[in-house]
Amino acid sequence: MTSHDDDARAQGAKVGLSVDTLIIHGGKPLHGRVDVRGAKNLVTKAMVAALLGDSLSVLRDVPNISDVAVVRGLLEAHGVHVTDSAEGELTLDPTNVTSAHFAEIDAHAGSSRIPILFCGPLLHQLGEAFIPDLGGCRIGDRPIDFHLDALRAFGAVVTKQPQGIHLTAPERLKGAHIELPFPSVGATEQVLLTAVRAEGVTELKNAAIEPEIMDLIAILQKMGAIIWIEPNRTIFIEGVESLHGFEHRSLFDRNEAASWACAALVTQGDIFVVGAKQQELLTFLNVFRKVGGEFEVHEDGIRFRHPGGQLNPVVVETDVHPGFMTDWQQPLVVALTQAEGTSIVHETVYENRFGFTESLNKMGAKIEIHQDGIASITRRVPRRKLEQAAVIEGPTPLHGTDIRVPDLRGGFSHLIAALAASGTSTISNVGIIARGYEHFIDKLRDLGADFELAD
Ligand code: UD1
Repeated sequence: MTSHDDDARAQGAKVGLSVDTLIIHGGKPLHGRVDVRGAKNLVTKAMVAALLGDSLSVLRDVPNISDVAVVRGLLEAHGVHVTDSAEGELTLDPTNVTSAHFAEIDAHAGSSRIPILFCGPLLHQLGEAFIPDLGGCRIGDRPIDFHLDALRAFGAVVTKQPQGIHLTAPERLKGAHIELPFPSVGATEQVLLTAVRAEGVTELKNAAIEPEIMDLIAILQKMGAIIWIEPNRTIFIEGVESLHGFEHRSLFDRNEAASWACAALVTQGDIFVVGAKQQELLTFLNVFRKVGGEFEVHEDGIRFRHPGGQLNPVVVETDVHPGFMTDWQQPLVVALTQAEGTSIVHETVYENRFGFTESLNKMGAKIEIHQDGIASITRRVPRRKLEQAAVIEGPTPLHGTDIRVPDLRGGFSHLIAALAASGTSTISNVGIIARGYEHFIDKLRDLGADFELAD
């Protein structure tokens, strides 16, 4: 057993998942309704934002996923009193924030990248912060240079130590002019969470504008922040001395919604995703339609289905918002193994996000990875150096196999591939999926999936 496997178990255990493995008998369409709650990529950041206030915050639609448990543990280690005030509702009291011991931070942070976002708020509250070595999904190196450069620009002193990074703010952090080399989601959040209480004005150029970032800005505005979103990815933040708590209902998880949509397509099923909204999924819905899926937008959610007949190949490139999100490509690739012809997916956000296709090939898929991308194709977005491309030939019937889940989105893709495949698959390390998919085993059962649990 590797430390990665230990970690997957720990992830599952945080949300009450005691099993490691699903034995899936594939070939049955998924039918029914699933509820999607608050976005993993907002809720965890909103919890960190609560650290900046001088009074209670209330966050609603919080999913029971292990990334939330990680952030909760870290907040509690820093003296924030967190209570489950109602189903899916957290109350966070930051009035007694204190420094945490390195061992405690390390024990909670384990596998998540969220701790990096504690820097700004802790520097404001305590004048220092410690960040252990960071985890997160193993999809490329995922450096934190943009974060550290931004923190330095605000006046933080960054010292690398053997177990992590120590930061101090010798005086109040000051507003800065920052231009990100790439519109990184995390680095944009870092700047927002730091600039709101820095002295003076911060100008952030080349910011990410994902819906989760807009929701975080809404939360910060509720807390008393002054943030201007200007054209061309520029954000101005006028720092204030203090912020108060917020009450907020999270944006829905568009990545989970897209995952279930692909599950419907892959298994030739019909899934109503309660809580999904159209606006944040416009780009995904275009691709879903081009591939041959059908959807209906309702007041309370979106119904996704495979209408029968053949699916169509597509050429897609992942991108920052409003482009096709990188977290959507993995479940889409599974659907494209069933399309008639050649599809191409360019991954332009991460340098190593096609590892999951190896297991799909073991199941009978024909996917070829071009590590350096495909240069000859006319592209909407200029190529990035780190780009990869997957060429998918379909349709290829999938057959069951044994798979160890490698990461969050790749793992969900393996699950849906196994659900569509003929025969039986054994999918282990499923604890990783609990990082971002609430109650996924119950949801699969409710949708009519045929599987057993094993340890
Ligand atoms: C967030 C999301 C993740 C999503 C990603 C892109 C969360 C918890 N996760 O991750 O689901 O796939 O946005 O939409 O919200 N980079 C650097 N240096 C840095 C920071 C980033 O080079 O300091 C690079 C990364 O290696 C990557 C690219 O920038 O190639 C984008 O990363 P980023 O947008 O920061 O992703 P995360 O915030 O980690």
